[in-house]
Amino acid sequence: MALGAEEPSAGRIKFVNYQSEVQMIDIKELVQKDLSEPYSVYTYRYFINNWSKLCFLAYDKNQCVGAIVCKLDARDTRDPVKSSMGMETYDSNAPVITYKGYIAMLVVKEEYRKLKIGSNLVKLAVNAMRESRADEVVLETEVTNKPALKLYENLGFLRDKRLFRYYLNGVDALRLKLWIDTSKRECDHGTATNIPETLNWGLTSAMASLSVDNTQTKSAISEKTSHDNNTTGVIASD
Ligand SMILES: CC(C)(COP(=O)(O)OP(=O)(O)OC[C@H]1O[C@@H](n2cnc3c(N)ncnc32)[C@H](O)[C@@H]1OP(=O)(O)O)[C@@H](O)C(=O)NCCC(=O)NCCS
Repeated sequence: MALGAEEPSAGRIKFVNYQSEVQMIDIKELVQKDLSEPYSVYTYRYFINNWSKLCFLAYDKNQCVGAIVCKLDARDTRDPVKSSMGMETYDSNAPVITYKGYIAMLVVKEEYRKLKIGSNLVKLAVNAMRESRADEVVLETEVTNKPALKLYENLGFLRDKRLFRYYLNGVDALRLKLWIDTSKRECDHGTATNIPETLNWGLTSAMASLSVDNTQTKSAISEKTSHDNNTTGVIASD
């Protein structure tokens, strides 16, 4: 740490929803440094542009120190049933569509780890998925990634499957899954009253930081934009 630089502290961290393409550069820089899989700019764009509401960033002042990138897929959950005439039909009482959340990337800058930033990013993303009617959330992580396994298992994710040599580096993956109690899905950012006990992760305070920080983040974005324009004139390229 440079002389006079402040120690990273959890109290200074603000969480924001993804707002601008400029933040994609921050996310890309963080992810490239720490995740073993190489992603193209199209991968970032695919996730972030389609599900920007499920993308959150953590800031210490103007510096992006963590990010989570996710998606949500719809699934037809109706089981076809055979009628007495042998024709396939659907149980009309079954929900037609449910949603499955997927955490694609999670990263916290090295000097800022073990401050619960990763856990808070996951909580924000899962709560946003729940509001979008997700009934489960899945992700894969390297079987050797102790910090990630600890973080997710602390939050209630369970080991679902081992995927042999899943990553390009030959390491196996573990698929982790969190089941969401859909009967208690309704929740309001302003109160924590309807949040199921197992998922009540202090949403209110995290979301309070979220709104407080938007102006600060906007200034960080405009500062970064003018810096990028002055140096390369390019916002995102691969
Ligand atoms: C995984 C990662 C996001 C965790 O972020 P973080 O902000 O440090 O996590 P948290 O502070 O919320 O910690 C959550 C739990 O994990 C534990 N943990 C964090 N780092 C750890 C480590 N190096 N070794 C053991 N446990 C660790 C914490 O102690 C905490 O558990 P506790 O509350 O029981 O003490 C971060 O280490 C990282 O960015 N790693 C590189 C990228 C990566 O692996 N991403 C995950 C891909 S799925």
